[in-house]
Amino acid sequence: MEVSYKGRGVLVTGAGVGIGYGLCQAFARAGAYVALNDIDPNLAAESAAKINQEVGAERVTACGQDIADVAAVRQMVRETAARFGRLDVLIANAGITNFGPFLDYTPDAFDRVTGVNLRGTYFTAQAAALEMIARKTSNGRILLMASVTGLQAYPNLSTYGITKAAIIHLARVLGLELGQYGITVNAICPGATLTERTQLDDPNYESNWASVNPTGRVGYVEDIVAAALFLASPQARQITGQNIVVDGGWSISSPIPEESPDLPEESSKLR
Ligand SMILES: NC(=O)c1ccc[n+]([C@@H]2O[C@H](COP(=O)([O-])OP(=O)(O)OC[C@H]3O[C@@H](n4cnc5c(N)ncnc54)[C@H](O)[C@@H]3O)[C@@H](O)[C@H]2O)c1
Repeated sequence: MEVSYKGRGVLVTGAGVGIGYGLCQAFARAGAYVALNDIDPNLAAESAAKINQEVGAERVTACGQDIADVAAVRQMVRETAARFGRLDVLIANAGITNFGPFLDYTPDAFDRVTGVNLRGTYFTAQAAALEMIARKTSNGRILLMASVTGLQAYPNLSTYGITKAAIIHLARVLGLELGQYGITVNAICPGATLTERTQLDDPNYESNWASVNPTGRVGYVEDIVAAALFLASPQARQITGQNIVVDGGWSISSPIPEESPDLPEESSKLR
């Protein structure tokens, strides 16, 4: 399904590289005006310039704010909506992954991860919703980036995992509260997705995850982008408060003993 976002105003957080960058690129290619946020202002500027060069138009503006800073987020959202004269889509994508065993995890790390992933997502969504309502936006769309580790327990990701579980629930509550303003709110749960960061963490990321996903492949940025382009479209107007899992089926499987037969002879008989 090819959707035009011509003239729409889109804000994507945490978008200097990875999934966020792919989202900005896709919306700009589809004709939208895009605010590309990243905590690193130089990276935001470079990435915005790269996409503008590719699409041959000044469609992407860089915003160098830390999503954990609520005052800065409010100002960024206000300025973005004023610059574009509208705000149609927010993708609260910024999130930090920080591994650490539960027994060693520190209050500082807990506060930073929850501050960016949960508090940051919450107040970015609030600021965007207020702008959409004030501007009487029709088809306002808020997408929240969660993770399969908010659905399934994953070792050494307790803090990250609970922020993502909370984001999945946040989509439900906001779907309920914002429906009356024509705004839908949905979460996306990427599974293992190949990005600069995950490749750095594990040079064999692509083949390692392909070997455990039922689809036999790792996730790519374009897989997440495809889900977002649909959920942000006017055609998705009846979908709200949902969580779309894009993980190649990883979260639908549970461990079975290695020695267990797939097709046990006795139990395959119809009685
Ligand atoms: N890549 C995966 O496999 C995967 C899987 C599940 C969920 N996710 C989620 O998807 C989102 C994007 O993941 P990714 O792997 O593309 O991200 P990433 O780790 O590559 O980061 C993308 C960008 O976010 C920026 N950023 C970090 N903290 C920020 C802050 N406080 N404010 C603004 N920008 C900030 C970074 O500078 C970076 O350029 C995250 O929310 C992540 O939790 C990713």
